Amino acid sequence: MPTEIDDDRGLPPWTYWDDDFFALEREAVFAPSWQIVCHESDIAERGRYASFAFMGDLVLVVRGENSRLNAFRNVCRHRAARLLDEPFGSCGARIVCPYHAWTYDLEGRLIGVPERAGYEPIDLKALSLIPLELKTCGGFVFVRLGAGGESFEDFSAPFAEEFERYRTTRMKALGRITLRERAVNWKVATDNYVDKLHLPVAHDGLNSLVSTSYALSVRPNGAYHITSQAASRAGQGRSVRAYLKYLPSVDHLPEDRRRHWVYIKLWPNLAFDIYPDQIDFMQFIPLSPTRTLLREISYALPDERREMRAARYLNWRINRVVNVEDKDLIERVQAGYETARLAGGYAPGPLSRDEICLKDFADRLKRVLPIARRAERPSPAAFAAARAVPP
Ligand code: FES
Ligand SMILES: [Fe+2]
Repeated sequence: MPTEIDDDRGLPPWTYWDDDFFALEREAVFAPSWQIVCHESDIAERGRYASFAFMGDLVLVVRGENSRLNAFRNVCRHRAARLLDEPFGSCGARIVCPYHAWTYDLEGRLIGVPERAGYEPIDLKALSLIPLELKTCGGFVFVRLGAGGESFEDFSAPFAEEFERYRTTRMKALGRITLRERAVNWKVATDNYVDKLHLPVAHDGLNSLVSTSYALSVRPNGAYHITSQAASRAGQGRSVRAYLKYLPSVDHLPEDRRRHWVYIKLWPNLAFDIYPDQIDFMQFIPLSPTRTLLREISYALPDERREMRAARYLNWRINRVVNVEDKDLIERVQAGYETARLAGGYAPGPLSRDEICLKDFADRLKRVLPIARRAERPSPAAFAAARAVPP
């Protein structure tokens, strides 16, 4: 019997860099998962679209007739050209392929084929764009690339009520989408997002803001809530102090939410940062076993108060610092995990009993992919057998 990793050690290091495991994750973790695309307000008018690449797949969501949102694979049915390129853009009334100008309407129907006689008989109906499952909650738009997995109702339960409270359907983007690449496995980045113990060690500013109120809770279906109260005393650093000073009251929020920072991490690769002044999503997009793209954008309600404009800017500055601090930390963790490729390299240390989210995440991944229980990297034969088991 292969040795299994102890339950209190989280995931074995090889799961943070292995190609075969990455392929298994793509099938069993990501294909059945819900992926965020944007907010409805990003693509409010007919012909506005959002597109992005996800683990080798290409996603397109476009505003069609009667305000309907349609999701497709962003791939031409002729000879496979990617159709639309911008993260957010407008394609007018039609989607025209840049290669040979096959033309689709906003419902994905093929309506134009230049030099059509050369393809006759051609069944245009059979060559519509491939649709994807699409759902919305609180104004946010999600797609699913594969089949199976949890229902959208279960997935959205941990944030649906929060979003109502914060009136997210009425929000609009505060800035552009940012894409930042990190030299880490996606799980190093998501682990770090719910890692409580590094806060007082590595984030002086943020730690002084949330002080001792930072609390983790594990919810069903791999969702985690982290709540914290912005301290009323002076924090550390100019941005934190100014944020605490200027943050105005947001009257539609309950009293106990007006100075609250709430983080919701969802299975497998999405987090919402919920502040009184704005909300952002952070999507951790795996690029390879050792590279991850952070796709992030903020949204807010219309509010022209000077204090609110200042608070929004200061919040962005505080979190920009946190991001730089975290980049350094996660890349050093990845470098350490990779020494496990060598004899005598890293062997996992214990998780604290307080790290309930890290523990839950590791347990969940081991349930979805039992091969992740193996302490040592499995043989090719073991991977082949793992692949043969339906998810
Ligand atoms: S690949 Fe799109 S028209 Fe040929
Ligand atoms: Fe951090």
